[in-house]
Amino acid sequence: MMYNPLLILAGVSATLAVTPEGFEPAADSTLLVSFGSVSAEGGNVLEKAATQTAPTIGTESQLTGSSFAVLMIDLDIPTDSPPATNTLLHWMQTGLTQSTTATTVGSTTAFLFQNNSGQAAFAEYIGPAPPARIPLSHRYTQIVVDTSDATADNLAVLQSAAASRQGFNALNVLTQAGLESKVLAGNFFNVTNPGPVTSTTNASNSTGGGSFGNSTGTGSVTRTTPTPTSSPIVPGAAMAQKASGMLLGIAIVGAVFVTL
Ligand SMILES: *[C@@H]1O[C@H](CO)[C@@H](O)[C@H](O)[C@H]1NC(C)=O
Ligand SMILES: *[C@@H]1O[C@H](CO)[C@@H](O)[C@H](O)[C@H]1NC(C)=O
Ligand SMILES: *[C@@H]1O[C@H](CO)[C@@H](O)[C@H](O)[C@H]1NC(C)=O
Ligand SMILES: *[C@@H]1O[C@H](CO)[C@@H](O)[C@H](O)[C@H]1NC(C)=O
Ligand SMILES: *[C@@H]1O[C@H](CO)[C@@H](O)[C@H](O)[C@H]1NC(C)=O
Repeated sequence: MMYNPLLILAGVSATLAVTPEGFEPAADSTLLVSFGSVSAEGGNVLEKAATQTAPTIGTESQLTGSSFAVLMIDLDIPTDSPPATNTLLHWMQTGLTQSTTATTVGSTTAFLFQNNSGQAAFAEYIGPAPPARIPLSHRYTQIVVDTSDATADNLAVLQSAAASRQGFNALNVLTQAGLESKVLAGNFFNVTNPGPVTSTTNASNSTGGGSFGNSTGTGSVTRTTPTPTSSPIVPGAAMAQKASGMLLGIAIVGAVFVTL
């Protein structure tokens, strides 16, 4: 049989992507993501409850760059025409820096990203809450982008795009901002509504048991965020203890979000 190096290379690069298949811009380097002691890497299935405040993020090696942005996007928002889906921006924070010292995180060490520039989030973190609609499983994708050389205009593109969370297209937005080749690391995790699917339509159809107004679906209702605390990460977690003071702070006030 003929040996075809191109096919082998293609296979290798497919294996290397750490963002979900089809997601662009894809990342080849792993972004370490954890919610307290709960690792959220590599498509791990997480309980919704574990994911409601912004995670700790880092990389195994220290990256080059003086400022970074993190984006988190749900790729599996239900629509009224299943199985078609939409996207939702869950988080966009610019002005991150990376610690110059590694922090022990479980069995590995990570250089954590810190939120110490004083820059307000372009999109505050919204915790996953997949409704009882198709698809029940959602892939929450995180990417870290090098913004060291980004101009004020580039950042303004990000800020203005973040104002419309639904239908967020990471490739289009980053391309417009000149940052499409600056994705340094990525990850995704999976949060799944236990079901059953209560409706394929939205709440404006009261006979359909739409997912916005009725709490029979576990992940489906209007939700009040938890009271903010000074320490954002679950106390007792190894990462939280070692990293306290350097973690991304949570500044979500008691706003009410419609979940998606
Ligand atoms: C980062 O800090 C800014 C300014 O204090 C704050 O507005 C924002 O919510 C913080 N982001 C996170 C993810 O904690
Ligand atoms: C997400 O997790 C659920 C529950 O384990 C599983 O059924 C589903 O296939 C997973 N989805 C993806 C995209 O990995
Ligand atoms: C909800 O469904 C109605 C029809 O059932 C449609 O007109 C409306 O645009 C939908 N709203 C959203 C936000 O999808
Ligand atoms: C409302 O939902 C019901 C049950 O799913 C469906 O039969 C009906 O066509 C829907 N009506 C509209 C306007 O979407
Ligand atoms: C939600 O809908 C179910 C039936 O679909 C109903 O039994 C229940 O009372 C409703 N709950 C609320 C809070 O409206």
